[in-house]
Amino acid sequence: ESTVDWRAVDEYFASTLLQEDGALVAARNAGLATTMPNAEVAANQGAFLKLLAQISGARRVLEFGTLAGYSTIWLARAVGEQGQVVTLELEPENAAIAEENFLAAGVAHRIETIIGPATESAERLINDATEAFDFVFIDADKPNNPAYLAAALRLTCPGAIIVIDNVVRDGAVAEAASADPRVQGVRRVAEDIAAHPELDGTALQTVGEKGWDGLIIARRH
Ligand code: DHB
Ligand code: MG
Repeated sequence: ESTVDWRAVDEYFASTLLQEDGALVAARNAGLATTMPNAEVAANQGAFLKLLAQISGARRVLEFGTLAGYSTIWLARAVGEQGQVVTLELEPENAAIAEENFLAAGVAHRIETIIGPATESAERLINDATEAFDFVFIDADKPNNPAYLAAALRLTCPGAIIVIDNVVRDGAVAEAASADPRVQGVRRVAEDIAAHPELDGTALQTVGEKGWDGLIIARRH
């Protein structure tokens, strides 16, 4: 089974290239106690998010979907001491787990966790005229991907990077007639990106410890 090889390669690169310290390992393990065990990004994807954020010079990051805060920690480390991450989480129990992990990772002071439906939390950020974000990671309930993109567009400026997780779904994304609302959430957001005059985007398929999946990466110009 080829996933065995994918796992071995993930383990090889994670152990060779990455700086996954005790706080990240603890955050990953804490993910098992959330409402969606094992849904956090793989270590190599967390490192990729950090690199993307740093390459783009991101200082303000908005994340849709916190869970145990594993990707949040990677992003908080990317923005540095002057940066800030706002992360939106539906479930108070998950947010409580995440906040313990942020403290253990030494980045709690850079992170604001907002509890509630992310569309409502984002609407509040828009109404509060929150300072623009320059990097957005969308990794929450997939049927709402188009709503999260729309909110992200009201909360970002030209130059912003928008990354969307879980866009391949074992290949199901290619099934136009899929009855899975998560697949349709991915397809609609891809169409929205394609149709938006200020967005350039592409998708990267990934294999590894999370199986076959992928990321959309878009830039606002
Ligand atoms: C699912 C969601 C995620 O964000 C993820 O990383 C893995 C799976 C899901 O909806 O099943
Ligand atoms: Mg995900």
